Amino acid sequence: MRIDVLNGVNLNVLDRRDPGTYGGVSLPELETRIYEWGSQLGCSIRCRQTNHEGDFVDWCHDALGRADGVIVNPGAWTHYSWAIRDALELVEAPIVEVHLSNVDDREEWRRHSVLEGLTAARVVGKGPDGYREALAFLVERAGS
Ligand code: DQA
Repeated sequence: MRIDVLNGVNLNVLDRRDPGTYGGVSLPELETRIYEWGSQLGCSIRCRQTNHEGDFVDWCHDALGRADGVIVNPGAWTHYSWAIRDALELVEAPIVEVHLSNVDDREEWRRHSVLEGLTAARVVGKGPDGYREALAFLVERAGS
């Protein structure tokens, strides 16, 4: 099973952001864990991160007809990028939205997601483990 994991804007500096909110883990550490969880679940994982919205959109297109599942954490784009919603609308494979922090319990503007109604699942506030939950969800869904 091929799963693309797309992390968006500012996630490359995860370990420099508020540790109380984001846990102090670095992106390479996070990706290492995701690759390990993926291999335990028998998945072929491709993790990517960008600060450029157009690249993120290209990678959504790249998942078309190839990925069996997509995990996205678009960072702040989650709250306003209709371009990313339009790109993900094309993806037939199930999509899981992940946020390290509990976006539902932070500032008002973070409570809105452009991906609402589009994703098969949403995992928030579980830190890096949220990605493991997302992977397990996609694997279970593919098997059922
Ligand atoms: C985030 C939450 C977003 O609101 C924020 O802009 C981020 C990270 C998260 O993983 O908790 O950059 O997506």
